Amino acid sequence: MNTVFVHNLINSDKRHIEYLCKNNPNMTKLSVNINKIATIRNARGGNIPDVLKAAVDCERFGADGVTVHPRPDERHIRYQDVRDIRQVINTEFNIEGYPSESFIHLVLEVKPHQVTLVPDPKGVLTSNAGWDTVKNKSFLKEVIGEFTKAGIRTSLFIEADPEMISNAALTGTDRVELYTESYAKNYPTNREEAVRPFIVAAKAAAAAGLGLNAGHDLDMNNLKYFAQNIPGLLEVSIGHALISDALYLGLENTIQLYLRQLKV
Ligand code: PXP
Repeated sequence: MNTVFVHNLINSDKRHIEYLCKNNPNMTKLSVNINKIATIRNARGGNIPDVLKAAVDCERFGADGVTVHPRPDERHIRYQDVRDIRQVINTEFNIEGYPSESFIHLVLEVKPHQVTLVPDPKGVLTSNAGWDTVKNKSFLKEVIGEFTKAGIRTSLFIEADPEMISNAALTGTDRVELYTESYAKNYPTNREEAVRPFIVAAKAAAAAGLGLNAGHDLDMNNLKYFAQNIPGLLEVSIGHALISDALYLGLENTIQLYLRQLKV
């Protein structure tokens, strides 16, 4: 996309998008995953770029929330970042992660608006599967019960599979986050086919009384079509592509452009 065009577009659309977000509670919310900012910071051991400033700037530039995914080795977001970010942002804070003992303690201490549980095995590069909610039902039920008691909204990262979704409802979770890697992969060849299982999954979630989030590999090209076709999509969390686009377009422009894709 031409940068001058982007700049003009941003200026003309920015106020309109802000108006729409404030006045249209049905619009899908954009939560920006800032793990990649921490990855760059950690490469040099100092505080550049400043992860806290990035979190504040994401919301200043229009994001509806900030997501972090502390991993056991703290290779990007550190546990202390999570505590610090909670103090400085006013929009929705979403913490993702595998519910290890230390993760559960951190979430209960920080009390974010939402916790998204992922079944990451130790050492994975990025989340690469959704929960098996049949096998893990009693474990998830117990963990979700603790978070619910603490007043924290819960979400389970899950494949677009109606059986996994109906069983997710039995854990007591408030929402599910659909794992969109397969949608993103298949989008360039056949987007109708790519989105079909996710439409079925969205309907299954609604039938089970679950709220619906989505994330993984969503980007500037595939986001609009996904948001247009998925009924009741409450929130997307996007990191890798958005932060990569920001290298070329700047964080503010990029966030505004992603918000524009959600304006369906
Ligand atoms: N949702 C979950 C559960 C994730 O683990 C991640 C990656 O950390 C994302 C969403 C965002 O994925 P991406 O970085 O590809 O946008």
